[in-house]
Amino acid sequence: MNKKVYITRDIPDEGPRTLMKAGFELTISEKDGVLTKRELVEALAEKPYDGVLCLLTDAIDKDVFDSAPTAKIFANYAVGFNNVNLADARERGVTITNTPDVLTDTVAEHTVALMLAATSRIAEGDRYVREEKFTGWAPKLLLGADLKGKTLGLLGAGRIGTRVAQIASRGLLMKVLYYDVKRNESLEKETGAEFIAEPEALLSASDIVTIHVPLLPETRHFMDERRLSLMKRGAYLINTSRGPVIDERALVNALAAGVIAGAALDVYENEPELAPGLSVLQNVVLTPHIASATTEARQAMSRVAAENLIAYFEGRTPPNIVA
Ligand code: DGY
Repeated sequence: MNKKVYITRDIPDEGPRTLMKAGFELTISEKDGVLTKRELVEALAEKPYDGVLCLLTDAIDKDVFDSAPTAKIFANYAVGFNNVNLADARERGVTITNTPDVLTDTVAEHTVALMLAATSRIAEGDRYVREEKFTGWAPKLLLGADLKGKTLGLLGAGRIGTRVAQIASRGLLMKVLYYDVKRNESLEKETGAEFIAEPEALLSASDIVTIHVPLLPETRHFMDERRLSLMKRGAYLINTSRGPVIDERALVNALAAGVIAGAALDVYENEPELAPGLSVLQNVVLTPHIASATTEARQAMSRVAAENLIAYFEGRTPPNIVA
């Protein structure tokens, strides 16, 4: 199939190999970084591309679509697609796909790792030893919190939230509460999770709150100053979804004032920038948007993005259409 596809950054090779095997002609951005809007628009204008494989760091909107009028499919290399303006895509008849499922376990495992890192003070302990502050065992050194028997509150009970609930309930013997716009009865049956119709009630009852909602106008700053203040004083907030779901400045204030015990974040409101004061706080664990970054998951995401493109050009419905 002699279709021209532009890939906006070097990605793990499974997808590009699959596409080349299927006869696609690929152009991969040579920049070792995110293309600016201008660079992306100029790159797309260079050839009559048939499709684009883009990343969550690319802002895809009408300017981008108009620079590639022949490209009628943009395959996003991510499960989240808040980087794509879906209304602009629909208006121009462009199909958008994403890469769900293949990163569910990976992101859930990272979420649990962050829960454990925060409550067992792993990152603080690591810094403490490296800074040569460790002078010997002490009865009150870096006291953390147990998870067994504690309450985990899920904001969002889709695929990733469900997997976190399975690990937490079966592995860590935690009680699970969840808030979502719709009930997930199979989650309730499988993990004993309890549906809480009001997020405020979940926040005040949970020892750990973990966020698994997509970024939408309704979820932007969902965790604002008011909702943070409803959490238990000894509670922890975990976020592996999208940064803007939390008002990051309000979180810095809450962590600094001891409104909550701690947080662990993989995503940030203005990536890669951090809100002033966040990085100097000891009671927050920070990872650089790597929740899906295992070799297995990133290769699978690459393959799934390629499969969406191949299906489209073979005249089949791509498996993961979002618009
Ligand atoms: C996604 O796929 O949306 C993740 O954030 C990538 O790490």
